[in-house]
Amino acid sequence: MIFVTGDVHREADIHTINPDEFIQGRTLTKEDYVIICGDFGCIWYGDKTDDFWLKWLDSLPWTTLFIDGNHENFDLLYQFPVKEWHGGKVHEIRPSVLHLMRGQVFELDSKKIFTFGGAYSLDVEYREMGKNWWREELPTISEINEARKNLKENNYEVDYIITHDIYLSHPLSKRLPKGMCLYNENQYDLQLFLEELKNEVHYDAWFHGHYHRDEKADDRCYTLFNRIINVDELEQF
Ligand SMILES: [Fe+2]
Repeated sequence: MIFVTGDVHREADIHTINPDEFIQGRTLTKEDYVIICGDFGCIWYGDKTDDFWLKWLDSLPWTTLFIDGNHENFDLLYQFPVKEWHGGKVHEIRPSVLHLMRGQVFELDSKKIFTFGGAYSLDVEYREMGKNWWREELPTISEINEARKNLKENNYEVDYIITHDIYLSHPLSKRLPKGMCLYNENQYDLQLFLEELKNEVHYDAWFHGHYHRDEKADDRCYTLFNRIINVDELEQF
């Protein structure tokens, strides 16, 4: 089974996937997946407090998968080994804790899942580069090209799209407070790219985080925060 939830922000919101609350999780196995839509936050200090959370996640009955949000320590995240897994690239954090990299198409339970993390930090003026803010929160052109290549190989057809931010025309979408001036020239406006995907890719459902609420914008776009949904039971949302 595949479950999807929103931002966990390290200890702040990780209770949502604690089996004390996520009762259904108690009966899952490592062949079941819980996907976090970014702002994972458990790789942040690079010390034993990170180890505590990663060890705990690895001890859970299922396999935990996450895409990156904007609140991640990208210097540390990108040090983990890259592996091929279910048709796409992951950073292997622990044996059953994997970072689904940008622009990949994974096949899980006979479903094709396209992943693309990242988002603008709307609170960037309160953050310090390399300490609690990283330019890597927005994609590079090469990550976008990787996405296009992988989507083309799949004839622009997937079952699910999983992102942290959302496409430009979505009612929740908030624009960059300072434009692209904080980023490098080889980086790209993520919401514009996601809008292109919305128009080009055939998909059944799109799941995203970032906006810290649980709601449905249209027939197939799910904004997630504290809720965990089974992709086979979307009618219950
Ligand atoms: Fe968040």
